[in-house]
Amino acid sequence: MDGSVAALLFSLVVLFSDSGSSQTYVLSDEGGLGRVLDGIGGLSGGGATSRLLVNYAEPFRSRILDYLFKPNFGASLHILKVEIGGDAQTTDGTEPSHMHYENDQDYFRGYEWWLMKEAKKRNPNITLIGLPWAFPGWVGHGKNWPYDFPDITATYVVNWILGAKQYHDLDIQYVGIWNERSYDVKYIKLLRYTLDKSGLEAVGIVASDNLWEPIALSVLLDAELGGAVDVIGAHYPGTTTVTDALKTHKKLWSSEDYSTFNDEVGGGCWARILNQNYVNGHMTATISWNLVASYYEDLPFSRDGLMTANEPWSGNYVVESPIWITAHTSQFTQPGWTYLQTVGHLVQGGSYVALTDGKGNLTVVIETMTHDHSVCIRPPLPAFNVTSQNATFQLQGSFASIKELQVWRSQFNFKTNKPSFFEKLTPLKLLDGSFTLNLAADEVYTFTTVTSGRKGSFPDPPPSARFPKVYKDDFDVRNPEFSEAPDFADQTGVFEYYVNLTDAGPHVFTFRQVLTQRPVTWATDADQTVSVIGDYQWRNLTVTCDVFMEDVKTGGVFVAARVDKGGQSVRGAKGVFFWVFADGSYKVTSDLAGQTVLAEGKSGTRAYVWFTLSLSVTGQSAAGLLNGHPLWSTAVVPTPKSGWAAIGTRSFQLAQFDNFAVAAQ
Ligand SMILES: *[C@@H]1O[C@H](CO)[C@@H](O)[C@H](O)[C@H]1NC(C)=O
Ligand SMILES: *[C@@H]1O[C@H](CO)[C@@H](O)[C@H](O)[C@H]1NC(C)=O
Ligand SMILES: *[C@@H]1O[C@H](CO)[C@@H](O)[C@H](O)[C@H]1NC(C)=O
Ligand SMILES: *[C@@H]1O[C@H](CO)[C@@H](O)[C@H](O)[C@H]1NC(C)=O
Ligand SMILES: *[C@@H]1O[C@H](CO)[C@@H](O)[C@H](O)[C@H]1NC(C)=O
Ligand SMILES: *[C@@H]1O[C@H](CO)[C@@H](O)[C@H](O)[C@H]1NC(C)=O
Repeated sequence: MDGSVAALLFSLVVLFSDSGSSQTYVLSDEGGLGRVLDGIGGLSGGGATSRLLVNYAEPFRSRILDYLFKPNFGASLHILKVEIGGDAQTTDGTEPSHMHYENDQDYFRGYEWWLMKEAKKRNPNITLIGLPWAFPGWVGHGKNWPYDFPDITATYVVNWILGAKQYHDLDIQYVGIWNERSYDVKYIKLLRYTLDKSGLEAVGIVASDNLWEPIALSVLLDAELGGAVDVIGAHYPGTTTVTDALKTHKKLWSSEDYSTFNDEVGGGCWARILNQNYVNGHMTATISWNLVASYYEDLPFSRDGLMTANEPWSGNYVVESPIWITAHTSQFTQPGWTYLQTVGHLVQGGSYVALTDGKGNLTVVIETMTHDHSVCIRPPLPAFNVTSQNATFQLQGSFASIKELQVWRSQFNFKTNKPSFFEKLTPLKLLDGSFTLNLAADEVYTFTTVTSGRKGSFPDPPPSARFPKVYKDDFDVRNPEFSEAPDFADQTGVFEYYVNLTDAGPHVFTFRQVLTQRPVTWATDADQTVSVIGDYQWRNLTVTCDVFMEDVKTGGVFVAARVDKGGQSVRGAKGVFFWVFADGSYKVTSDLAGQTVLAEGKSGTRAYVWFTLSLSVTGQSAAGLLNGHPLWSTAVVPTPKSGWAAIGTRSFQLAQFDNFAVAAQ
């Protein structure tokens, strides 16, 4: 053996014994405590992300809600944030406003009221937050801007909070400004003033649901603004904050985060975010976009929710890994608990946080996530290679005498693809207030004195199934709790149940597009209104619907098949669109914008008369019937090959629909 080999062996031994040792991490309250936890939350909206949830039959709907909100069961969320519907497209659809028109107020539209009540039923302590993405057109006086008349905007938002209390007994605790758009200092101050004047002093303001800056600097420079703002809320902060935000001494929140496909990898991203938002960024609340993926899978940001529930027709839902990752923190802490100052990174990668209720309880959450940072929407760290490591946690201060800790573990095991989530292990006995762990990569552990943790479960839901090929809705049978017909997903405009009591005939109960003005938009809404429904794979089908135009001059309505785009891309939707107009003409186009005309001619259609449209598309041909008589047939462009069925109007105008039916092959 020559000298260099001996030296090499020696260094290997040193390395081995080095890595065989254990790093010690002290957990103590002796030097004081850190910030107070405000909680972990989910966001319904921004937009229409819970659209399909409401149409689940019982008991499945209640089970989904239990996985989200029931304490000591699943995600056991501390916070529910909802969109204040503004009638415009806000990512996966539109949500209706409580004031479509200036002289209109209705606090029973959409499903967010219902969702907040269901959450509250399960967890009376849940924190409720509202935030507008868009506003009805009248709020901006026709301009795509909500701050020219800040008093109108403030009154509009405060009405929503008052309506929540008056009609649903819901206390909204926080309200935001304008999601991911500019804020206006004058408006924020006026909102504070309007809240106070309305007896809502307890409602806090979150600003500005965008980046840390410039709001942090504005708050530092303007004492009155600082007095108005309670929380600096940043979106997708990548677990870090900025000096100005810390200098404000305000609560710092990741008021929207995650937005990642909810397979196991998504759960891993969420685990790292939940710990490191505090460790790196001093954030005391983290809110997932979105709460539950209850929108059609082919809309943008498919399955970016804590769980998936997008098949009300089958009853199938999937409890995904982020539910259990949430439980690791949410079941063993409550808003009002305090982080210890002793939190941080593990030497070989990963992080740990510890929280206390101030009465002797301790919860420690450890994560060693490494897997493919690139899939997380904001990689919080450069690709750091987490390796297996021994870690010793030494409990000191109030926690020195703790004798036993409950242990919960998740293992991602990306390679073997045999993950296990939120498993209860044998409680750990502590000798001298310390315990040593052998941590592998991609694990999450909770060690806690809290004994109430529970992994809730229900029998398996029904198997997944495609949207039924034969579907009918005459809009006569309604769930009185909801303003919208099942499974219609509005992409521009708002479609609501309507009752015409003066109608003697068959159209007392109809479905109506109710917007008469373009909203103050958040996305690029179409100039037409459109609501999609069905199976994105539909190719050969017949769509039939009775239509009623209410605009004598510019009336125009359509039924469509193979509609291929929604969400923020709705303007570019293609498909086969069969339009009739109040001027007595018809048109067939291959786009929602109505630019590419496949056929056109006279129809004799007019406003205030019901007509029945029927559109059949098979392969590369299509045909249309008016009141049962053939009106046209034509070749259609070969793309898109498939898409949803849809109804809509040529502009923001009133129109009604009845006896909708689809028969797909
Ligand atoms: C952890 O400690 C055990 C001995 O308790 C040792 O065998 C192992 O090599 C250590 N692992 C690491 C990664 O240091
Ligand atoms: C709500 O909070 C109170 C006070 O912190 C607590 O006593 C109660 O157990 C909580 N209720 C639930 C359902 O968590
Ligand atoms: C921990 O919390 C429970 C209630 O969750 C309480 O009964 C107990 O006294 C607390 N303190 C300790 C040290 O466990
Ligand atoms: C992590 O490992 C990969 C290859 O496995 C390597 O390319 C990369 O440089 C490593 N990163 C760090 C920060 O060590
Ligand atoms: C309601 O029904 C009556 C009678 O059919 C009809 O004249 C009227 O136009 C309808 N109004 C609306 C808004 O549908
Ligand atoms: C649609 O119809 C065309 C023409 O009849 C046929 O070739 C094709 O297989 C059908 N596709 C489906 C999915 O039914």
